[in-house]
Amino acid sequence: MINLLILGGTTEANALAKAVAAQGVSAVYSYAGRVDTPRPQPLPVRAGGFGGADGLAGYMRDNAVTHVIDATHPFAAQMSGNAVTACREVGVPLAALTRPAWHAQDGDRWAHVPDITAAVAALSGPAQRVFLAVGRMHLEDFAVQSQHHYLLRLVDEPDALPSPHCDVVVSRGPFSEADDRALMQRHGIELVVSKNAGGTGARAKLDAARALGLPVLMIDRPALPQRVELSSVTQVLDWLAHP
Ligand SMILES: NC(=O)c1ccc[n+]([C@@H]2O[C@H](COP(=O)([O-])OP(=O)(O)OC[C@H]3O[C@@H](n4cnc5c(N)ncnc54)[C@H](OP(=O)(O)O)[C@@H]3O)[C@@H](O)[C@H]2O)c1
Repeated sequence: MINLLILGGTTEANALAKAVAAQGVSAVYSYAGRVDTPRPQPLPVRAGGFGGADGLAGYMRDNAVTHVIDATHPFAAQMSGNAVTACREVGVPLAALTRPAWHAQDGDRWAHVPDITAAVAALSGPAQRVFLAVGRMHLEDFAVQSQHHYLLRLVDEPDALPSPHCDVVVSRGPFSEADDRALMQRHGIELVVSKNAGGTGARAKLDAARALGLPVLMIDRPALPQRVELSSVTQVLDWLAHP
C-alpha cells in the first residue's frame, strides 16, 4: 500500500495532488504554511515546518509514509535537502518533481547572479524603477538598496517593504505577456529582478521584458543534493508504481 507525502506549494504539486486523488492513492499534501489562504487540495493537507530533517524523519515514521515526492519550488533548498537526509535515514524512496530552468532566448538581456545576496549587491548604484519579482520572503534583503522604486507582485500583502518607494500588486496569477508588458510600462520599469523558477506560470514577465528590451537580473538556482528527478505527473505515477 502506498502512503505518499507530497512536499508542495507549487503548481506542479497541485497537479500531482489532483492526479493522485483521482487514482485514489493515499496521500498527504504538505504546505510550509507561509501563504495566508493556501489553495484547497483534493487530499488531506498539513501545514508548517516538520522541524528539520529529524522532524521530517519522525513525521514519516509516525505516519507510516512509504514514498515522498518533493514538489517544492526550485529555490526551497532547505526543504529539499532535508527531504534527502530524512528519506535516506528512514529508508523511504524519494523523487523530486522538477521543472526545467529558463534559458535566455534571442533578444533577452539577462545578467546572471548566483543568489539573493549577489542580486542585492548588483543593485547598488543610482535609483531605478525595478520590478522585484523575488517573493515575499526575501524582500527585506533588498532594504539595503532602498534608493530604488520597487514594483512588488505578491500572493499576500508584504510584512515589510524594501524601500519607502514601493508599489504592491497582490495577485496569484496566472499572468500573460501582454498584461505584464502593460504593467511594466505603466510603472516605467527599467529593470526586472527574477529568480530562475522555471515553468510557465511566472514566465510572462520575462517575455514582457524581452518585448520591451528591458534588462533582467536573473538569480540562478541553488545547488541541491542528488536525487531522482522526474519532470511530469505521469512520470511520478509510473515511479510510484515501480520506485
Ligand atoms: N522559495 C521560493 O522561491 C518559493 C516560491 C514559491 C513557492 N515556494 C514554496 O514555499 C514553501 C517554502 O519555501 P522556502 O523557500 O521557505 O523553502 P526552504 O527555505 O527550503 O524551507 C524552509 C523551511 O520551511 C519548511 N518547509 C518548506 N517547504 C515545506 C513544505 N512543503 N512542507 C512543510 N514544511 C516546509 C521547512 O521547515 P522545517 O525545517 O521545520 O521542516 C523548511 O526547512 C515551499 O513549499 C515552496 O515550494 C517557495
